[in-house]
Amino acid sequence: MNYHKKTVSDIELNGKKVLLRCDFNVPQDKTTGAITSDKRIVASLPTIHYLLDHGAAVIACSHLGKPKGERKESLTLAPVAKRLSELLGIDVLFAGDIVGKNAKAKAAALQPGQILLLENLRFDKGEEKNDPELAKALASMADVYVSDAFGTVHRAHASTAGVAAYLPAYAGLLVEKELSVMGKALDDPKRPFVAILGGAKVSDKIGVINNLLEKADTIIIGGGMAYTFAKAMGYEIGTSLLEDDKLDYARDMIGKAKEKGVQFLLPVDTAIGDSFAADCKRDVVDIDRMPAGWMGLDIGPKTIALYENAIRDAGTVVWNGPMGVFEFPAFAMGTEAVAKAVAESGAVTIVGGGDSAAAVEKLGYADKMTHISTGGGASLEFLEGIELPGVACLLDK
Ligand code: 3PG
Repeated sequence: MNYHKKTVSDIELNGKKVLLRCDFNVPQDKTTGAITSDKRIVASLPTIHYLLDHGAAVIACSHLGKPKGERKESLTLAPVAKRLSELLGIDVLFAGDIVGKNAKAKAAALQPGQILLLENLRFDKGEEKNDPELAKALASMADVYVSDAFGTVHRAHASTAGVAAYLPAYAGLLVEKELSVMGKALDDPKRPFVAILGGAKVSDKIGVINNLLEKADTIIIGGGMAYTFAKAMGYEIGTSLLEDDKLDYARDMIGKAKEKGVQFLLPVDTAIGDSFAADCKRDVVDIDRMPAGWMGLDIGPKTIALYENAIRDAGTVVWNGPMGVFEFPAFAMGTEAVAKAVAESGAVTIVGGGDSAAAVEKLGYADKMTHISTGGGASLEFLEGIELPGVACLLDK
């Protein structure tokens, strides 16, 4: 995939209207609707400042949640407009619709240095269907399109891909940064290149493991998916997470890694619980000694030492997915130790969005990492090396 894309610095912005796709899909409190993390809003600020400072008028747009083509008041972007306004220190106009009368009138009247936020794009059925009519209507309000919604570049929607058929399309500063940091890690990594993959399911990581087997020097496996690998090696795994239909694949991967000379590290011991609960009975056993009726919920201390050792000498580390059920304090040790080892490694360190980013933030290591991606699914698909529609549609450098 070509990710060398034209950016905002390639546009003559003065007097232009810019349709800016952001990822304002922020977490909200289920009862009050309050924004519980404004990280994605904060991440959009450099591009917004750049555009406004260079004399552009900004028509920002985003999705929030999954309203499935219907207006849902709980998913209005009005609270985002308010927060964005506080962060920018200027008024953020809010349309209340997407390409309706109000949005069009406000967009038409928008002056250089002003910013307007449209309503949740997914209130319109055309957004997720990549409807050309919606894409055209969005494009009609602006002179250029800028994508800064890295978290959504894996979606081929009207506002993330379709719109680029009607406007010249550029990358914002966040998208540029995400593409260049992760692109360099994949194409020209400082070696040894260590990839740490965790999370519940092998099936979620198949594409990533396939791609990284071609690029990494070491692949470290943790999280729930490690037990499918353990079973594939012939071990009893009790009631641990298992994807039966991925056993052959797991064996294949172990074989392929050997063929390619890639070090493929799997847990040698595991912390187990007698049920899936924070207060369950806990024990630690070697991976080939798991008792029936118990489940693996974290990597064990020998595995931690093994993984720390591999991470210590790394030149580049890419991490996606926790090592265990870190939400349960008794099973957070593996994820904590890996986070610490990555933070202290001195390597170029990249943390994929989603759970691993949340873990790193919760543990206080966020500012010790080179880059924490704002994309969950998007960063995973980037690591798979597949074409991302929201990147492919941007003008090449
Ligand atoms: C995300 O939160 O990963 C992005 O905003 C994409 O959201 P989606 O999975 O609802 O498309």
